[in-house]
Amino acid sequence: MSPNKVFTELADGLASRRQILKGGLAAAATSFFTCFQSEARSNTVVGRMMCNFDAVPAGDQDAVIAPSGYSVQVLAPWGEAIVPSAPTRMGSASASEQAGRIGMHHDGLHYFPILSSSEDGLLVINHEYIEPRFLHESYSGRLFGRHDVLIEKGVRNSEHVKKELCAHGISIIRISRDADGNWTVRDDPRNRRITGLTHIEISGPVRGVDQVRTKYSPSGTGVQGTLNNCAGSATPWNTYLAAEENWADYFCLRRSHKPSASQARYGIRTGRSIYAWELAEGRDELFLRFDITPSAFEATQDYRNEANCFGWMVEVDPFNPGANPIKRTALGRFAHEGVVFAPVREGRPVVCYSGDDAKFEYIYKFVSQASYESESASGDLLDQGTLYAARFEDDGTGEWLPLVYGLGPLTEANGFTSQADVLVNARIAADYLGATKMDRPEWGAIDPTSGEVYFALSNNNARATTNRSAANPRSKNIFGHIIRWSENDGDHAAERFSWSVFLLAGPAEDSRDANGSSLSSGAQFACPDGLSFDKKGRLWIQTDVSDHELNRGKMASFGNNQMLVADPLTGHVKRFLVGPVGQEITGFTCTPDQRTIFVNIQHPGATTSAWGFAAGRYASNWPDGPGAVPRSATIAISRVDGGFIGE
Ligand code: FEO
Ligand code: CA
Ligand code: CA
Ligand code: CA
Repeated sequence: MSPNKVFTELADGLASRRQILKGGLAAAATSFFTCFQSEARSNTVVGRMMCNFDAVPAGDQDAVIAPSGYSVQVLAPWGEAIVPSAPTRMGSASASEQAGRIGMHHDGLHYFPILSSSEDGLLVINHEYIEPRFLHESYSGRLFGRHDVLIEKGVRNSEHVKKELCAHGISIIRISRDADGNWTVRDDPRNRRITGLTHIEISGPVRGVDQVRTKYSPSGTGVQGTLNNCAGSATPWNTYLAAEENWADYFCLRRSHKPSASQARYGIRTGRSIYAWELAEGRDELFLRFDITPSAFEATQDYRNEANCFGWMVEVDPFNPGANPIKRTALGRFAHEGVVFAPVREGRPVVCYSGDDAKFEYIYKFVSQASYESESASGDLLDQGTLYAARFEDDGTGEWLPLVYGLGPLTEANGFTSQADVLVNARIAADYLGATKMDRPEWGAIDPTSGEVYFALSNNNARATTNRSAANPRSKNIFGHIIRWSENDGDHAAERFSWSVFLLAGPAEDSRDANGSSLSSGAQFACPDGLSFDKKGRLWIQTDVSDHELNRGKMASFGNNQMLVADPLTGHVKRFLVGPVGQEITGFTCTPDQRTIFVNIQHPGATTSAWGFAAGRYASNWPDGPGAVPRSATIAISRVDGGFIGE
């Protein structure tokens, strides 16, 4: 967290003008946001949710619970082959076998129809992170928590490290639906894995600059791999963008080396990295690169810049298996949760939004320099444009602050050397600009009817009474909220906007829906993360109560992580699905006919204690059943009668 005087002043002003700090916080916040609601919603006539299903009760079963009349099918769990090969127990599989199989811990995903089909398409799935204890069968019986790895005599097994890199990244698989309604993975030349080892091009303003020159790529034009791919989105030109979120955890500096200001701002640790890949036996540079301590005379002879090559949005063309993925640097470097594109208009810039998911970080928007032309549109549109960070004023207006080198404080006097430097250090640039520090911005989604932009603010237990604002109104915000805004004149490229809080998540006594009412028992949830609109304008909300809090204390009443559906017009919220033990629900994509939706079940069993793991008693055995190692997987949800989902 960096000091930001502008924000503190904003919060202080808020206290005197709105009296929001008096009385019950949820009530105070509600009085604030409903004043914008009533203005913005005065023309509302009818809702559009029409969700004819009974809310699923909160629960803690080790199963996926959907409303009656819906079917759920498990698809593409970790370890399923994406290319023809013999069945393998994944715990004992080699790194190269893992490289040809579905990765671990599924997150964002997107269905790309083939020939507009709702029964045949390419599914692109992000794999955010791994649990080494479940990945390696040889870890069975050890007293291991979810991030523990075996380090013996100061080194790690290099085959294990390689397998871990191969369990990260992205899967592209062809799937189709048979006459019985079941989805299966099909052999297809486009099936492929992108992993922590895949060559990826760097494009945009950061391509070729000093900050990304490494021994692997002295020209600063490429990098090996993408990591911690959280959410993702289809682009308007039918490719896919995957986010790199908690990449900083994968790097380290030796304890003797003081982190630079940039490294400190991005949370690069000293000591060892999260999985200690830098300790792989054999000192192969493939793994050593995760120790970014300078070790040579020049940057092109070591990996001091390796971490600058992560923290970007990565473009993948699922229909062209020969195409290298590309890191699009004009969208800035931070803990990208995901990205969401505004609807494109011919002759207008392309606009997309992305959150930086950490406490007190920012929401960003990118506006392309060139205009969108459907005939020629490509990822090149993302290489030149303006990146902005959001400032939410307490009067319900907001401003987009441009991260442009030479403008305002983004000059050499403050340490910036170029536009590339501003993008590599986007967090620091946004600090200088006085952007508003948010409560962990996760997914964004855009209402297809109104054009309003919604963002989930998952939680922030470090928010203090002294730095609350109208946009982040609760101190110790453990339940999270959802914010929304309209760009001025309905133009997503606008530099100003009007915002309101859509809802405050939480239990009955500490929650508010869009109408100012408490969330009902069929609608209560905490820690919103995934947000997606379907074509009919329903907002799907997915929760991520962290695994150390799930079903405990103040989170006990919410049960397992879940998915709900909300009507943006009426403010009505209803719980649609509850997942198995220990997981979070994440990722949302529909077939064009909206008769199948795909979501991911990530990290089932993450609540397994070290003692439970050692005893072989996993908190979840989903999806394979009693005794099995839990596996992340995609699920396909459809209506038994074949109807539209949600109606
Ligand atoms: Fe990967 Fe912020 O969730
Ligand atoms: Ca997330
Ligand atoms: Ca998570
Ligand atoms: Ca999350």
